[in-house]
Amino acid sequence: MAAEDDQVLVLEVTGHAVGGEAIARDASGRVVFVEGALPGEQVRAAITEQRRDFARARLVEVRRAAPGRVEPPCPELARGCGGCDLQHLAAGSQAALKAAVVGDALRRTAEVHEPVVRVAPPLPAAGYRTSVRAAVRAGRAGYRRRRSHEPVPVESCLVAHPLVEELLVEGRFGEAEEVTIRVGAATGDRLVLASPTASGVSVPDGVLVVGRDELRRGRRAHIHEEVSGRRLRVSARSFFQSSQVGAEALVAAVRDAAGVGASPVVGGSPGEPIIDAYAGVGLFAATVGAGLDRPVVALEWSRSSVDDARHNLRGLPARVLRTDVARWEPQAASLVIADPSRAGLGRSAVAVLAATGAPRLVLVSCDAGALGRDIRLLLQAGYALGDVLVVDLFPHTHHVEVVCRLDR
Ligand SMILES: C[S@@+](CC[C@H](N)C(=O)[O-])C[C@H]1O[C@@H](n2cnc3c(N)ncnc32)[C@H](O)[C@@H]1O
Repeated sequence: MAAEDDQVLVLEVTGHAVGGEAIARDASGRVVFVEGALPGEQVRAAITEQRRDFARARLVEVRRAAPGRVEPPCPELARGCGGCDLQHLAAGSQAALKAAVVGDALRRTAEVHEPVVRVAPPLPAAGYRTSVRAAVRAGRAGYRRRRSHEPVPVESCLVAHPLVEELLVEGRFGEAEEVTIRVGAATGDRLVLASPTASGVSVPDGVLVVGRDELRRGRRAHIHEEVSGRRLRVSARSFFQSSQVGAEALVAAVRDAAGVGASPVVGGSPGEPIIDAYAGVGLFAATVGAGLDRPVVALEWSRSSVDDARHNLRGLPARVLRTDVARWEPQAASLVIADPSRAGLGRSAVAVLAATGAPRLVLVSCDAGALGRDIRLLLQAGYALGDVLVVDLFPHTHHVEVVCRLDR
């Protein structure tokens, strides 16, 4: 590190943080987070925020570029869009960077000595997102500027599925302040959820439009998507993976981690169920669970997702319980699949899931920090960490998705 003047530093970048910024250190050893830099680079960066333990800096110049650095492919970035923050790294190198971030979290937080983090085969890096949320200004949809609430109207979107992009760019959203656009890539269904109201929304015929105010008054609206040969109903307010190809890849990874297809991994007596915790609309219960010769208990707290899961699991030996996982009364289980939100499982849910006595637990995590904390808790609860696989569901962004196998 060398100081050029009060504000601009020359920094050696050594790592990448969970939140998507690069990590360097100033002369005092204090961490400096630099947006847009890459490990191995030497950069000039202007300090934007000073704290006692760390600082933040804006990239001014790359003096020595990392091998994977590229010109960001999406023109919207230059116009201020804050959406995809890893476009300066070649798509083919992004998953390895994410694997390094995951390995770091496992080492530092979970105290796993030499974590082995594998990377799943790459998914399409463009046109993949089947659901997006956008802000609306003067009737037009836009993504927010980085670290701002101000939306930038979009004229194209590198990562949006073409069925989404058309609505995002050409749709007019009347009095809405925010829209969620969700499509079924396999079915062609399209839905626009406008908040607070869908009044004045103009989109092509055949697109289902609903206002959040109407949902509150009891109207129902859903699309269908197909994953692993299963047709799934997904309602406007239910969680669903942000891409169909991503959902397929995740199901394949969870299936592998559970050991389906190989010799049966599930232990316990044949009556002991598989627990699909944080089940959403029943994605894993309907696909992975249905491939195992066991009943499934799906746990989910959102009413909308529970309704969808009950619909999607009709005819299967599955029960859907509307509950907070952390407050569920544990029962003996042969396998646990747990796919929590970004906050992770936390101490209470780990205790509950470990109390099932399941010999294998498959953890699906979308936050490397939470993953480190959860793995630490699961190790303390008597599980050993097996395979760790990064499935890059969100190319061009720093977001990670990780599937871990844990065995007692
Ligand atoms: C990351 S999503 C995973 C959903 C599903 N496994 C899938 O892949 O589509 C997490 C889900 O957990 C639910 N959820 C979050 N916290 C929960 C809790 N404490 N108890 C039960 N469900 C919860 C959310 O409503 C959401 O549907």
